[in-house]
Amino acid sequence: MKCSFIVLALLSAAAVFAAPSTKRAFNSSEKAVIGYFEPLHGFPIDMLDFNKYTHINYAFSYMWKGAPDPYVIYVNYDVEGPKIKELVRRGHANDVKIIMSIGGWYGSQTFSQVAADPARRKKWVESAMVFLRPNTLGDNAHIPNGWNMDGLDIDWEYPGKRGADCNTFTPKDTENYLLLLQEVRAQMDLEFPNNQKTISSAVSISPWVDENGNPLTDVSAFVPIFDWVNIMVYDIHGPWSDPTGPNAPLYSHPSPEAASADRAIRVWSAAGWPKEKIALGTPFYGRAFTATVNMNTRNPISQYAPHTLIAPKGGPADSNATFPLCIEKVQFWGFWNWAEIREHILVDSLKVPVSGWKKYYDNITKTPWLFRESDYMFVSYDDLDSMSLKVDFARSHGLKGLFMWEAQMDYKDELLTVLNQIHCSSKECVCQGVAAWDTTKVYAQPNVAKVTYGGRLWTNKWWTRGDQPKAVGWNAWKDLGAC
Ligand SMILES: *[C@@H]1O[C@H](CO)[C@@H](O)[C@H](O)[C@H]1NC(C)=O
Ligand SMILES: *[C@@H]1O[C@H](CO)[C@@H](O)[C@H](O)[C@H]1NC(C)=O
Ligand SMILES: *[C@@H]1O[C@H](CO)[C@@H](O)[C@H](O)[C@H]1NC(C)=O
Repeated sequence: MKCSFIVLALLSAAAVFAAPSTKRAFNSSEKAVIGYFEPLHGFPIDMLDFNKYTHINYAFSYMWKGAPDPYVIYVNYDVEGPKIKELVRRGHANDVKIIMSIGGWYGSQTFSQVAADPARRKKWVESAMVFLRPNTLGDNAHIPNGWNMDGLDIDWEYPGKRGADCNTFTPKDTENYLLLLQEVRAQMDLEFPNNQKTISSAVSISPWVDENGNPLTDVSAFVPIFDWVNIMVYDIHGPWSDPTGPNAPLYSHPSPEAASADRAIRVWSAAGWPKEKIALGTPFYGRAFTATVNMNTRNPISQYAPHTLIAPKGGPADSNATFPLCIEKVQFWGFWNWAEIREHILVDSLKVPVSGWKKYYDNITKTPWLFRESDYMFVSYDDLDSMSLKVDFARSHGLKGLFMWEAQMDYKDELLTVLNQIHCSSKECVCQGVAAWDTTKVYAQPNVAKVTYGGRLWTNKWWTRGDQPKAVGWNAWKDLGAC
């Protein structure tokens, strides 16, 4: 960057006067569907339908204490460079914003030391800007000097809390974090005054903690820095929590009020966070537990049961391999990706599992669950119906949109398609996901089938096959209105 000397000289002054412009405030009528994409296991970029995302977050680059410089953002460019380039190229060709996610559970090891030190903050900001700048070295440069990405997603998990075993943390983290954020925002405003580059963050269900470890009750200082936050409403219950329970409850089990999406939005709002700067997190996976009672025979039936506090191996891809950046204890996660649930449990029907499993629905948290009596495996997960309720919730609260962890866990874009209903007004959504009328198909039961034809929605009045939907005359189809 030609003018980097001047830019750096201006940085400290700009940071002090970081009067954040409101100009970049998000246009709340443009809704977001944000996919976290983790190219760890191969690079399944071809499975991404770029028409169904507004943003894709590359997860992750790391704050890793084993890096050559542990206080700048670490990327193994030999391995990741070509993937980042390809994702940016494909994203931009399809009008999808590509964002660099920094940190995550294992990659937040040195954020605390960076945020606490003015010289380290300055170097860190410089390492972050490289993701946003254009590459001026030409296409053949082995390591470009800019990656032309559209934003930074700063996923420090978590300021002021332990997080993963390898992390450092202090009571001053949140205060220092604000300084780091102000400095990176100031630098972005300086270098890209007209080009909207965004700052987002994956955050917990309650705001950042103060020096005493309590969630902030006033987050207004953070509001102008962020374009939005991604609230991670999943992993609410896991092997660490007793009893079993929902992975991603939409509403809270009352008295005492439990965690949920609804509660998270209320808590963040009460601390002064605007709803239009919230993307609601959803899991494209379920979590397995080993119950110590038979959940099929209890009265009343309930998704809350005592369990072993050790996750069993979940779906076929679930692994007990350790993560090289930070070795924590060896254990399975208990993950069942949605694709695995569809390929092994809900095979022929979304409602009726294969033999051995029973499916239940919790009408308070609005989440389905499964139980397998042979090994007492309980799985809390999300399906098309529970996702659809989350989309309705996001729409009715005027949220920015939704995101998922993580893109490649879906089955034939089923859940992603549901999240895309956020783009519809409720009327437009009427036809989304409804199959077109099929000339050869039998529609047997009256008023059950719904089809689209000629830009309208139809239902059959009686048994029919090959009868083209039309509004006039003797016709098997009833017109339910425009799509
Ligand atoms: C916000 O986005 C909508 C939809 O793209 C557009 O019609 C509207 O003009 C935008 N508003 C502003 C203030 O840019
Ligand atoms: C990991 O799981 C495999 C079974 O899939 C098991 O054989 C192995 O012992 C486990 N590793 C550890 C360290 O527990
Ligand atoms: C959930 O509860 C509401 C009222 O409390 C009821 O109207 C609805 O039918 C229930 N839904 C299911 C799927 O049980």
